[in-house]
Amino acid sequence: MGHCLQCNQPLNKDNSFYGQHADCFKEIFQVDHEIEFQSLARKNFISDPNDHNLENNDPHLTSYFAGNYKKYEGKLGEHSYILKLSKEEYPELAPVEYICNKIGYYCQINIATPFTLIDLGNHELAFVTKNFMANTKSHASLNAIYHYLDAGPTNYNVENISAALFKETRSASDVIMFFKTLLFDALIGNHDRHGRNFSLIETQKQKRLSPIYDNPSYLGLEKGSALKANIVVHGKVWTKNSQEPDILAYAKEIKRLNAGHILKDFVSSMQFDKIAQLIQESHCLSNNMKQALYKMVIEQYEKLVNYV
Ligand SMILES: Nc1ncnc2c1ncn2[C@@H]1O[C@H](COP(=O)(O)OP(=O)(O)O)[C@@H](O)[C@H]1O
Ligand SMILES: [Mg+2]
Ligand SMILES: [Zn+2]
Repeated sequence: MGHCLQCNQPLNKDNSFYGQHADCFKEIFQVDHEIEFQSLARKNFISDPNDHNLENNDPHLTSYFAGNYKKYEGKLGEHSYILKLSKEEYPELAPVEYICNKIGYYCQINIATPFTLIDLGNHELAFVTKNFMANTKSHASLNAIYHYLDAGPTNYNVENISAALFKETRSASDVIMFFKTLLFDALIGNHDRHGRNFSLIETQKQKRLSPIYDNPSYLGLEKGSALKANIVVHGKVWTKNSQEPDILAYAKEIKRLNAGHILKDFVSSMQFDKIAQLIQESHCLSNNMKQALYKMVIEQYEKLVNYV
């Protein structure tokens, strides 16, 4: 007896579909019967011609190894999804990304949805996220934030990014979502909010912040007893006073930039009890991972609460 990757309840292997109850699968993917992913194709997400491009040997099922994931794009019914499969070195990366996205939801982050975790067989798990660009108008494009900033790590800081974001979108709520994303990243220990992991959707009419994607904890890159160590994670986006910011550094920076009111709001609207329960009860995580992730979020949460 395993557990459904979507609802976490007991699952009879005989009537499971991609590691989920058939009903859970149908609901999350909005399909009326059990259909399989079609035309899984290698996804080369890098659109910048100056970036390395890999040869596409097999148009049907080749993988693009970038970073820590094999990535595919696949269709299910009408919709297009991105599948991220953990590599062998990082067996828990996909489930960790799944749980972290759920935490993001409890932190009121505008996570790319729907997302879920599926079993492709042989216990190969994939984090699945709906491609939010697939059904947008053809002239819409996803442009990573680094396009709007001067190059160089010193420019990749909270003040510059929030200013660029406001200059482009004229949206205070987009800037607030950026600040909340930094707090969320610090909470889960995401070390990788680099210039491609934060983007605008641009159409002829307007520019707006895209849904928040690529949200795993760094802990997903660790395994076994290494998870028992005291793992300290710093955010990628610098603050005025820190190149190794934790949640406290971000809270102070957000206050310095006159948005201190969102800190209380972030804390009071996040559902910490649910986050704790989610981590502790998730059958898709190993015990070491549960403990490490819980330790991460409780420590960061307490720092933030004490500051606020
Ligand atoms: N749900 C989504 N919808 C549309 N595009 C996405 C989505 N998730 C990711 N992307 C795009 O795919 C790229 C790679 O996905 P990402 O989650 O960042 O993987 P990686 O961990 O390999 O960086 C992103 O930089 C973004 O451009
Ligand atoms: Mg990424
Ligand atoms: Zn279920």
